[in-house]
Amino acid sequence: MKKITINTIISETTSLQDLTIEDQEIISRAMNAAKASWSPYSGFSVGAALRLEDGTIVTGANVENAAFPSGICAEHTALSAAASNFPEVPPVAMAITALNKGKQVLMPVAPCGKCRQVIAETENRYNRAIKLFLAGKEKITIIEIGSDLLPLVFSQKDLNSSGQ
Ligand code: THU
Repeated sequence: MKKITINTIISETTSLQDLTIEDQEIISRAMNAAKASWSPYSGFSVGAALRLEDGTIVTGANVENAAFPSGICAEHTALSAAASNFPEVPPVAMAITALNKGKQVLMPVAPCGKCRQVIAETENRYNRAIKLFLAGKEKITIIEIGSDLLPLVFSQKDLNSSGQ
């Protein structure tokens, strides 16, 4: 039996000053985006801000629905907005943060499984890594390649694999 170890390298900081101005900017935009969330059922307002290759920033918030599965996550909203409005421009970084009952979370919030799948699809589409900044008030976690959060991802190559 062959054993394979999958490593994901992440960085953490407690100081925004460790980040570039551009990266600080998307964190701030993610925080503003969270304020636009419609999340009356969970009270958990998530904001995401994408930076595209040309510097354009595209934001998204979670939008909930009384029929719970009909809601959409902030990351998915932002990635869909970018794909719809700027299909030629690859996203290169995304900041994610959240307010819980109106207060910014202290610790970073990680994207859910479905959002990881959408991040991976976007990386595959443009053949570009999306650097993630998961921003809590007291800690920021940085992941260089978003799809590293989804080992053994299902992708186009699976759909193309031949059967017998
Ligand atoms: N949520 C996001 O927007 N992004 C995630 O990655 C995790 C969860 C939203 C969905 C729901 O509106 C609320 O947070 C609580 O799960």
